[in-house]
Amino acid sequence: MQLSGKEKAMLSGERGWAARKAMEILTALGTIYGAERMIPVASVQIAGVSYDNLGEAGLQFLDQMATRGGRARVLTTLNPAGMDIENWQVLGISPEFAENQQRVIKAFVQMNVIPTCTCTPYLIGNLPRYGEHIAWAESSAVCYANSVLGARTNREGGPSALAAALTGVTPDYGYHRNENRTPDLTVAVRARLEDTSDFGALGKAVGDSLTALGMKRVPYLRGIPQASGDALKSFCASIATYGGVALFHMEGITPEAGNYAPPPDSLSIDEAELRAAREALSDTEEAVDFVTLGCPHLSLREIARIAELLHGRKVTKEFWITTARPIKQMADRIGYTHIIEEAGARIAADTCCVVAPIKGRFKVMLTDSAKACYYGSAKHGFRTILKPFDQVVEEALR
Ligand code: F3S
Repeated sequence: MQLSGKEKAMLSGERGWAARKAMEILTALGTIYGAERMIPVASVQIAGVSYDNLGEAGLQFLDQMATRGGRARVLTTLNPAGMDIENWQVLGISPEFAENQQRVIKAFVQMNVIPTCTCTPYLIGNLPRYGEHIAWAESSAVCYANSVLGARTNREGGPSALAAALTGVTPDYGYHRNENRTPDLTVAVRARLEDTSDFGALGKAVGDSLTALGMKRVPYLRGIPQASGDALKSFCASIATYGGVALFHMEGITPEAGNYAPPPDSLSIDEAELRAAREALSDTEEAVDFVTLGCPHLSLREIARIAELLHGRKVTKEFWITTARPIKQMADRIGYTHIIEEAGARIAADTCCVVAPIKGRFKVMLTDSAKACYYGSAKHGFRTILKPFDQVVEEALR
């Protein structure tokens, strides 16, 4: 790889031990993927923040990078942690876990990383512009940044995202390059999509089909007349989970779609396939004991809808509503939080139903999120039920 003088200085250790380690990670990646150079990134999103996922080995790596001089050189934000940082007790988190999670956050803060603890950084100020190069981890946010915003990022892992933060660069390969952003498969959608859970089911149906084809593809979706930001958020999380998709184009909706003609190779998704995807995510008729909305983290508009539905009523089940802290602060100010808490539900910031250490605490999880169904089952062993957003709230009241 051709490195600039500054990059060579980092690699030689002139800019400190942590910068050298970071540059070693990036040059190794670049060499594997045939990158010819590094490119500057405008921002970084780091995943792998929950102590539940990191464990002691992960924490020690972060600690070492922090104490040996690692400092973020660009805007760097964090994925959700394993708990609400300010209010972990009400979620039933153990003091021991809380202490370890705080150590993780402390190491990131020492590295000048902003502890946003959300998977929707684009809703709270880490909003890349069209065409901008970034280095993001968190598959749903990567898919959203590439597809909906038209920014450019590969699916970074925890270490490579941290390395990009500490150097300000990433190797120039994959989705940073025009030739890899061209769609290679048309997906004709012939189904009605009304709600975030429909878009999640669509993401599963398309993702499963792409996985069955056995190749990473850039799908070009047609036949979707409209999609809100919240619907696209849900779709991105799902298609990234089930199909490993980091970039799609949606005709008339996403910004790069107009640059391309629909590819000849095609598949179609109709009502029956959407229904099958939905049914596959509802694997039980047992009683629900855990209700959750907020995978990906909720927008203020979604929280407003929950408050409207819960107003003056009482939930009968554990109900977690997960979001970014600045969104919760807005909800506090407007009064949504008060309405929701009066109803007996909880708004949890900084965390989610997947990264919190809740394995074994519940049996049957109800949600509108196809991604949450996948990980709720795979990580926590929950049975899952997928329902439309409003129905999830109604079910919590029943
Ligand atoms: Fe976000 Fe947690 Fe879902 S990180 S996308 S809410 S699994």
